[in-house]
Amino acid sequence: MKKIFLTILAGVFALTSCNAQNKNEQMKKCLVVFFSHAGDNYSVGNIQVGNTKIVADYISELTGADRFEIVTHKYDGMAYKPLCDLAQEEQYADARPAFEPLITSSNGEAVKPANIKDFFAGYDVIFIGGPVWWGTWPQVMFTFFDTYDLNGKNLYPFTTHEGSGLGNCVSDLRKAYPNADVKKGFSLYGHEVRSNKAKVENWIKGLEL
Ligand SMILES: Cc1cc2nc3c(=O)[nH]c(=O)nc-3n(C[C@H](O)[C@H](O)[C@H](O)COP(=O)(O)O)c2cc1C
Repeated sequence: MKKIFLTILAGVFALTSCNAQNKNEQMKKCLVVFFSHAGDNYSVGNIQVGNTKIVADYISELTGADRFEIVTHKYDGMAYKPLCDLAQEEQYADARPAFEPLITSSNGEAVKPANIKDFFAGYDVIFIGGPVWWGTWPQVMFTFFDTYDLNGKNLYPFTTHEGSGLGNCVSDLRKAYPNADVKKGFSLYGHEVRSNKAKVENWIKGLEL
C-alpha cells in the first residue's frame, strides 16, 4: 500500500517538473545558473563544494535542469575574512569580475554550445542562485547579468546565506532584467544545505513549472 502511495506521489511530482509534458504536450526546459565559492567560509569551515552548488545540484536532480556554473578563480584559496574585505571593496567599486561558463547537462556531461548568447533561448525556466555577499549577489553575478540578456524569461531566484535570506537579490535581479518574470525567491542557510534537501524539494514541488 505504502509502495503504491509513493509511486503515485512520484508520478504527481514528475508531472510538475520541468521535463514533464504540460497540457500542450510541450516540454519545459530548465536551466540552473549559479555561482558558488568552495573554500573557507562562515559557519561551515573549509568546504570542498560550495553551499549554493549543492542546492543547484539538488535543483538539477529534481527538475532535470542543465547547469550553467559561473566560474571565477579570483577567490581561490582565500580565507574568509580577506574574502569578505575583497567582496566589500568590489561592491563599493561596482566591479565586474571576469568569469568562465561551465555548462553541464543534468547527467553531468559537458555542454559546449556554438553560441552561448543563443544558448539561453532553448530554456523556458531559469533558476538563478548564489550566496548572499554583503546583502546581495556577488559582483561576478552582475557580470553575468550584464553579459546575457534574460529578459522575457521566467526566472526563479535562490540564495544560500547566513542570516540575510534573499537580501536584495530579488530586487537586484528585477533591476537587471526588468522585462523578465522574476518569481518569488527561495533561500536556505548555507550550513543547512547538506541536511535539508527536503526544503528544496518542497520549494520545487510548489512551483508551476
Ligand atoms: C564575502 C562574503 C560575504 C557574505 N555576506 C553575507 C551577507 O551579507 N549575508 C549573509 O546572510 N551571509 C553572508 N555570507 C555568507 C554566505 O552567504 C553563505 O555562507 C553562503 O551559503 C555561501 O555560499 P557558497 O558556499 O555557495 O559560496 C557571506 C559570505 C562571504 C564569503
